[in-house]
Amino acid sequence: MPNARLEQTSRFGVFHAPNESELEQIIDADTFFKSLDTLSYDTARVASINERKVKNQTKVGPLTYGEAPYGSLSKMIQRIQDRIQNDAEPIPINGTFVDLGSGAGRPVFAAAISYPFETCIGIEIMESLHNIGMSTLEEYHTKLNKEPNLMVQSSINCSNNDYNDSDSNSDDDDDEVLITPHRPTSDIQLYCASIYDVDAVPYNWRTNADLILLNSTCFTKDMIHELELLTYSFIKDSTYFITFSECLNSDLFELLATDRFEMSWGEADVYYHRKRRA
Ligand SMILES: C[S@@+](CC[C@H](N)C(=O)[O-])C[C@H]1O[C@@H](n2cnc3c(N)ncnc32)[C@H](O)[C@@H]1O
Repeated sequence: MPNARLEQTSRFGVFHAPNESELEQIIDADTFFKSLDTLSYDTARVASINERKVKNQTKVGPLTYGEAPYGSLSKMIQRIQDRIQNDAEPIPINGTFVDLGSGAGRPVFAAAISYPFETCIGIEIMESLHNIGMSTLEEYHTKLNKEPNLMVQSSINCSNNDYNDSDSNSDDDDDEVLITPHRPTSDIQLYCASIYDVDAVPYNWRTNADLILLNSTCFTKDMIHELELLTYSFIKDSTYFITFSECLNSDLFELLATDRFEMSWGEADVYYHRKRRA
């Protein structure tokens, strides 16, 4: 029984039953994620369109908005945990997740809830999207503060579709347990900055990252390559670097595996990389 304790006095053993507020409350991670009301794809998409209009950047390009759903992100984490290659390490418990171009923060919150990362970082250049992320961060902390004993349990077969409640949790009973219950990550840091301007972000994401996500579907090959150069000498040998639609294409990184997952705009190829070993 959690938190129950036995105190020995000189004559009696005194048993303290946990009161209501001491009991752990374990809920499905997917359910907790979906309880974040401020995380709305439509709100983020419209905010991005409006800001791009003001910036005269309405053509499809790196600022184009799209999201990786909770289910897809947790399956990417699971793929790595399943030993993506024989010598591959699992993502450390208490590691760091970094989303480069984090939008309104969906993958950052998905990572924070689905896996016991110590720190989750999001870096986004569009102010309106960053602001939505900050509102969600406030809601997230409010919810966690209200439930100091809340723990979440992740499962693999969660829905890939965050945007449609009707098919979510339809096969709850068959859900396969991903990891033991854990407290959602409390250290979430969102920065409004360019991912290429590393000095603008006080957190040293390059040396700390254990998993880097780059939703790169609308990035140019040159932009992706610049990130390879920016990260290569700093990241750990064990850091995973995930890209979408295009793989890292130099000798610096090795491709470990590919997948195809549902995103907000349809299916996309997902590429898992690690620094090439000498
Ligand atoms: C396709 S969205 C991905 C959003 C989020 N990562 C997800 O998967 O749900 C790409 C995001 O990258 C942002 N972005 C593009 N160039 C950037 C840059 N140089 N620095 C920071 N963010 C950038 C865009 O504004 C956009 O929000």
